[in-house]
Amino acid sequence: MLLLQLDRKSHNPIYLQIVNQIKEKTASDILKPGTKLPSTRQMAEKLGVNRSTVYKAYQELWAQGYIESRPGSYSKIRKRPKIATPELKLEQSTLAWNHVTTAASQRIYQDYLKFKPEQSTPQTKDTINLAQLDIDPRLFPVQDFRRCVNQILMDQGPKVLGYGEYMGYKPLRETIAKRLQMHGILADSDEILITNGSQNGIDLLLKLLTNSGKKVVIESPTYAIILPLLKYHQAELVTVPMKKNGLDLNRLKKTLETQPVSFLFTMPNFQNPTGITSTQSHREELLSVCEAHQIPVVEDGFEEEMKYFGKVPPPIKSMDRQNICIYLGTFSKVLFPGLRIGWITADKECIQRLVSIKRFSDLTSSYVLQAAVNEFCERGYYDLHVKRMNRIFRKRMQTAIKAMQKYLPKEYVSWNEPAGGYLIWVQIKNIPKHEAEWIQIFKENRVLVSPGRYYFPHPTKDICFRLSIAMLNEQEITEGIKRMARAIQKTKST
Ligand SMILES: Cc1ncc(COP(=O)(O)O)c(C=O)c1O
Repeated sequence: MLLLQLDRKSHNPIYLQIVNQIKEKTASDILKPGTKLPSTRQMAEKLGVNRSTVYKAYQELWAQGYIESRPGSYSKIRKRPKIATPELKLEQSTLAWNHVTTAASQRIYQDYLKFKPEQSTPQTKDTINLAQLDIDPRLFPVQDFRRCVNQILMDQGPKVLGYGEYMGYKPLRETIAKRLQMHGILADSDEILITNGSQNGIDLLLKLLTNSGKKVVIESPTYAIILPLLKYHQAELVTVPMKKNGLDLNRLKKTLETQPVSFLFTMPNFQNPTGITSTQSHREELLSVCEAHQIPVVEDGFEEEMKYFGKVPPPIKSMDRQNICIYLGTFSKVLFPGLRIGWITADKECIQRLVSIKRFSDLTSSYVLQAAVNEFCERGYYDLHVKRMNRIFRKRMQTAIKAMQKYLPKEYVSWNEPAGGYLIWVQIKNIPKHEAEWIQIFKENRVLVSPGRYYFPHPTKDICFRLSIAMLNEQEITEGIKRMARAIQKTKST
């Protein structure tokens, strides 16, 4: 007879104790396949428990595949393959993943291994993180957003927990269209596709536009996280260097005259990583060159709302009469990145083609979050939040520039003064040290900066770093710059 020990004082329910003990006895071969289990009545009497408790335990064992039962006969232990218990499971799969995975995935995996986010993770609590472009979580409008989530659940109930529309929640697309007008962009809601952040937008665009035999034109340096994706698609790259007022237009013209190009990727405001903002005339000329060659311009407006010093020209998309410009926007860099909500604004036909790719990749974006962020905008919280972020970061950027002027030795360090956003590009000169050594030196001085090589598709001799003030308050920024200055002073005199 099957012997089970029940502990009636345990917090573990009796039926689960029965389940677990039968599972253990099966695993250790005490109960062999085909062994009949007592009927529920016999087992209940033997254990002194309710028959329904045994019934529940047998049902659970059946659901987990441990027993089989037919109407009118006893339940029996089922013959089953050994399950992967922690002791039995191999540390590594027997599959050689390099052989079973695609070449494209291997390319992106190699980049993933090289790209070391731990370098931007503070090692100690008092390390100052000038590396990460994530906005300061102390500024997230948690309570207002909670009110919006509650409201839409109350108003719309289960509807917002469904899949939603492929193009994204229509009221949010209308809200974005209105907001874009403030930046001079005229777009209908059907010229907007909601994406899972603008990174998802970039991925969709690469799927749409990357074309073998044609080159992709990117700025150099450029947004680090587009580079592995371009490699994934085996895109042939042409780089156009960044100059003081934006990408080198002469180089762009020459490129378009001499090579087949599928599209240009550009960030006219507060470029990532250099922080450079192009001028109005630069934008006009860039657009007219691309119009002349009928090349799509992908404009990444990731920090469009962070024009806190004023005097930033409107987006290229606002001048785009021929509808060749594809504009990317996001809530990540002003509201919070965990929303994973961005959008693409483009010609209707382009949007429809993007919708088809997105629909078969991830079906839809989160309906409930789109509805909540729309509520956030409709209540006027978004406008207030943008104003607050502008006010705070105007002061923070002024603080950063002041501290750099005061503490960094100019014969060894140069930098640009951004017209907004979060980024400052720094170059170190006249001290013979490699980038990796500098990263280590800064780390030892408890300050993290982002290595310049992340942003170049090809190696460069210049020693550059991207500083981001996004996560830090004024005291932290000043302290971070002081630590950099101290590290540079110490290093130059060794
Ligand atoms: C230039 C640029 N584009 C796009 C993104 C992606 O942002 P998200 O996917 O969070 O909208 C980032 C994020 O840092 C960025 O810096």
